Amino acid sequence: MSKSIRVLGIETSCDETAAAVVEDGRHIYTNAIASQIAIHQPYSGIVPELASRAHVENVQLVVESAVKGMNGRDTAPFPKTLPVDVIAVTVGPGLMGSLLVGKTVAEMLAWVYQKPLVGVNHLEGHLFSVLPASHDLNPPFLALIVSGGHTELVHVKNFGDYDVLGRTRDDAAGEAFDKVAKMLGLGYPGGPVIDQLAAKGNPAAIQFPRPFLSDGWDFSFSGLKTSVLYYLRDNPNATSSKKKVADVCASFQAAVVEVLVNKTLAAAAKLDLKHIVLGGGVAANSALRSAFAHHGKKYKIHTSSLLLCTDNAVMIAVAGYYKFLKGGRKKFSPESLEVDSTLSFQSWK
Ligand code: KG4
Ligand code: ZN
Repeated sequence: MSKSIRVLGIETSCDETAAAVVEDGRHIYTNAIASQIAIHQPYSGIVPELASRAHVENVQLVVESAVKGMNGRDTAPFPKTLPVDVIAVTVGPGLMGSLLVGKTVAEMLAWVYQKPLVGVNHLEGHLFSVLPASHDLNPPFLALIVSGGHTELVHVKNFGDYDVLGRTRDDAAGEAFDKVAKMLGLGYPGGPVIDQLAAKGNPAAIQFPRPFLSDGWDFSFSGLKTSVLYYLRDNPNATSSKKKVADVCASFQAAVVEVLVNKTLAAAAKLDLKHIVLGGGVAANSALRSAFAHHGKKYKIHTSSLLLCTDNAVMIAVAGYYKFLKGGRKKFSPESLEVDSTLSFQSWK
């Protein structure tokens, strides 16, 4: 039997400082996350400068706790030998200052412990996040990645071989959730709050538009967001009771879910793909998950646990493992990684 490979994943692209150790892309040893939600909440959105500062403050503790969990030790600082074979770190997309914190720490650890280092695309991380729960999943399959910054429909022909079918032309799905929550004074991040409130509302109360762009597989959520804004402006009583707020949330959410589900299923049918992966923070949405589950007879839907939908380092370790196997550097190299704040879904070279 070949030797198993343990990967230390590090993720600092946005507002979560995370580190995790995963063996062979499936066995999760540790999963440490320091959330910055409390820091950004007063601003109803992420403040990049505060995000990078908080990463700098938290990253050592987070990486230490992921690594210490491996040894079952809870007092010693970094061990003399690092009990992992590979280090993987997010190199984009994300906030430049935040990405640089993870990259610097990963390069420093790789250099000190002489480990191979793999740069991972954050969007691919969301794609690979389902693998610990779906060991048997093999390409080809369709993936819908829906996060705060991205909405991407991807034909995964092989691990590392992608055909991006469509993406958002304006707001990402999660961004629309966050902006609508802000309009309703519900705080940040908006997705989880809208999800909870929507459960108590009527999804048919208000007919918000369903932006199905007919020319291809792209998405657009900014018009839907604006129609919520106009609805609130034209109906001053729209938020006069908890029930009415819940109705706005449920009706908005129903529009987003219908577009995401219908487009994804249409693409799966067209390409004759039976497996669909759902990843990214919005994949935690209960209405989206149950709408997809409803089609579970025809398609096998792969989602991760709620904790692995939103940003984490398990997904970076898993993606890093597959990338390492496919041709990553097998030994330590002093060459530094390139970070790219606008990195898009790209096939491995
Ligand atoms: O993947 P993620 O953690 O970070 C990015 O890569 O952007 O996604 C964060 C996004 C936020 O917009 C948040 O509001 C949304 O995911 N989100 C949700 C839910 N949980 C998180 N959106 C809808 N329903 C949820 N339950
Ligand atoms: Zn993300």
